[in-house]
Amino acid sequence: MRPESNVVVRLEDYRPTDYLIERVYLDIQLEPEAATITSRLSLHLREGTAPGTPLVLDGDALVLRRAAIDGVELAPDAFEASADRFTLRAPPAEPFELQIVTEVNPTANTELMGLYRSGGNYTTQCEAEGFRRITYFLDRPDVLAVYTTRIEASRSEAPILLGNGNPVETGDVAGTGRHYAIWHDPFPKPSYLFAMVGGDLASIHDTFRTRSGREVKLAIYCERGKESRCHYAMDSLKRSMKWDEDRFGLEYDLDVFNIVAVSDFNMGAMENKGLNVFNDKYVLVDAETGTDWDYAHVEGVIAHEYFHNWTGNRITCRDWFQLCLKEGLTVFRDQEFSSDMRSRAVKRISDVAKLREHQFPEDAGPLAHPARPTAYREINNFYTTTVYEKGAEICRMLQTILGEDGFRAGMDLYFRRHDGDAATIEDFLACFADATGTDLSQFALWYHQAGTPILITEHDYDAADETLTLRLRQILPETPDRQRKSPMHIPVAFGLVGPDGQDLSFSRATGARVDGSVIHLTDLQAEVKLEGVKARPIPSLLRGFSAPVRLETDLGMDDLLFLVGHDADPFNRWEAAQTIAMDLLKRATEEIRQGATPVFDGRFAEELGRLASATELDPAFRALALTLPSDMEVAQAIRTNVDPDAIFVARRALQTHLGDRIADALAAAAPAADASYRPDAESAGRRAFRHAAWAYGLAAGRITSADLAEAFHGAGNLTDRLAALRLAVHRDLDDAPALLEAFYERYRDDPLVLDKWFSVQATVPQHSTLERVQALSRHPAFSMKVPNRVYALIRTFAAGNPVAFNRPDGEGYRYMVDMVAEVDRHNPSVASRLTTAFRSFRMMEPSRRAAAEAALKRLATVPELSRDVSDILIRTLE
Ligand code: PHE
Ligand code: ZN
Repeated sequence: MRPESNVVVRLEDYRPTDYLIERVYLDIQLEPEAATITSRLSLHLREGTAPGTPLVLDGDALVLRRAAIDGVELAPDAFEASADRFTLRAPPAEPFELQIVTEVNPTANTELMGLYRSGGNYTTQCEAEGFRRITYFLDRPDVLAVYTTRIEASRSEAPILLGNGNPVETGDVAGTGRHYAIWHDPFPKPSYLFAMVGGDLASIHDTFRTRSGREVKLAIYCERGKESRCHYAMDSLKRSMKWDEDRFGLEYDLDVFNIVAVSDFNMGAMENKGLNVFNDKYVLVDAETGTDWDYAHVEGVIAHEYFHNWTGNRITCRDWFQLCLKEGLTVFRDQEFSSDMRSRAVKRISDVAKLREHQFPEDAGPLAHPARPTAYREINNFYTTTVYEKGAEICRMLQTILGEDGFRAGMDLYFRRHDGDAATIEDFLACFADATGTDLSQFALWYHQAGTPILITEHDYDAADETLTLRLRQILPETPDRQRKSPMHIPVAFGLVGPDGQDLSFSRATGARVDGSVIHLTDLQAEVKLEGVKARPIPSLLRGFSAPVRLETDLGMDDLLFLVGHDADPFNRWEAAQTIAMDLLKRATEEIRQGATPVFDGRFAEELGRLASATELDPAFRALALTLPSDMEVAQAIRTNVDPDAIFVARRALQTHLGDRIADALAAAAPAADASYRPDAESAGRRAFRHAAWAYGLAAGRITSADLAEAFHGAGNLTDRLAALRLAVHRDLDDAPALLEAFYERYRDDPLVLDKWFSVQATVPQHSTLERVQALSRHPAFSMKVPNRVYALIRTFAAGNPVAFNRPDGEGYRYMVDMVAEVDRHNPSVASRLTTAFRSFRMMEPSRRAAAEAALKRLATVPELSRDVSDILIRTLE
């Protein structure tokens, strides 16, 4: 580990810059191995700063070629330049123009930060601190400038040249074979939103008319030959643009909107102003190469990046501690969009399942941090599920508390008050407080206190008084920051399910505040008395998952079964089934560890079978109800001394138990395959249901290897084909090797589809999967250099295969540590993402825990470990 890895950046140290940059003029000469960047910055002192204060610009791995002020070359003693800093000793007191020429090597840039090449095309990635790898700059989000960019390249190598904002001019550079394009972005922006692209790209084009009548030219660029796979992304873009006008009154503001799909990208996508750059995984889909999952994610990510134009770009973040200001809010917005495009209940259930699978473990382990952190060593490590998904939950709670109209009034004020600003979480909350006259000081704790609160409830019904008493209590678990926590404001949406399944009303509420159908728990404990409740109800609490907490109620099996059958809130219907399944899995795991054979209460199967056959319900919803809590969720519920093998055996036992009882009903209820593929939510739901029927059929031995092989070969789309493949491979059926071979042959030239082939094999729940992954990492279609490949095989193995990763002999841990060290040498941010697979190691049983710890300690001895990996390592071992 390098010593500088341990430097901590703190929120309390924030102060504005001494200098401001008004305008930036960039001239970028593209060459594969030596791109030259000439930057002209119009600088001036901030009011109140002493004239002569040195100007210090950020750099990272830069080589300075020239520096001048107002056209006059700087004397050698006027400045100091190193790879990571440029200091102007005594800048002029009056506004001046600083000219800096740097040179970078795009081909050698394997970190994929700054200016790099992907598939022969030039592209940039600047968030969070990549712009300083292109030129020296005040590379922080609160320095907003107007950019003009001139890009020049060989016309044959890069016929397409794209920049931020609007196109201004193009032309040839006579006699050189080179050409140029000039782009101008009129909206002041921070450097992290800068982008340029140059390459030989194919494209599709369309237009969108904004509601005020402006015509926007839309284009999506991709690798040649893939343009036919861009149409769904284009359609999603147009629907996003329309939706943001309808729901939030937000219009697009430039003449063009460009999207570029690249195949080497660390993250999902990037919202650069007017020029979104995407991991091609979230752009390219068609019936042959995209699954239902892919379609839904293309739609969601396209919307997410587009929505950033207002939440992120027009209003940006003051500093990186405020990351959740743009990310949490934008995730909330894209979730709402997808809910409107698809089924709201199904979207909500999927989002909550994802939150529990990823965010809850993060929040319960050594990497837990508040949604608005106060310290970091490496900002790249804070693009977390807490900042994104918990951040979105906080916005959702705000909407629950203020109502849709109140929430919208707060958003409107936010855009009026802060357009063009670099804002903070406090600014954001003040808009909602001011617009609605609400005191949100306690609510703000959601941004500042880490950890998932536990909500414990009890209820009592007094038939004579017709009164229901609810007692609620919150527990705030300890997190690595060890701060003493104050009670949170938890909005508990609820209903009272009556004996006929209809919601019962109440006439009066006393005790804790009740607003309509929301109880506001603001103290550590509170009591609510609901009067005029005519019959004994079953309280249905936390409807729609109204707060990101772990709920522990006093409801027994009978009550939960009734909710599975009757709750008017579809989320809680699903939730009741999950609660029962979780209880059964936990108990079975314990029995297996004691050497006993688990016995299950048969009433669950009966109720689940009924639900699954209820044709009036959305098949997608029924498929979700049939999906048992993940191994990770079960492990989290057990919390200590976890044995992943026992959890897995318990799951298989429950699947068999359920399959024996419901497989026939599922087969009967399963809709037939559609004649042709359509990606809409309803069709996808029917497919998901059919696959659930297959899974239980297999568990019960009603479906054979040959049946699945037939389904595989007869499949008319990738979703069905992949589902059959996954089941065959995960169940280790006779036909599995042949199906894997057939799948590979069919898609051998399609890296994104082969990623699924890698992932299916990386998740086989057997110890020997480790050797399989090791062999696959030598497969010609695999590359350690391409993030999508590494994620598909290596990360999927570590994060998606608890049985093999946590092998009792510790080999899974040792392998991962080797992979982290290897990837870290060329791409630290991918390496640190791999390292987070260890975040729950302390909950393992002692021998696994010791093996994981030893592996991590060995990683710490690797010389020259990046700051990204060191940071995760330090915190994980703390
Ligand atoms: N800001 C991007 C998004 O969430 C994510 C991202 C972060 C991409 C850092 C690249 C680098 O939309
Ligand atoms: Zn985002």
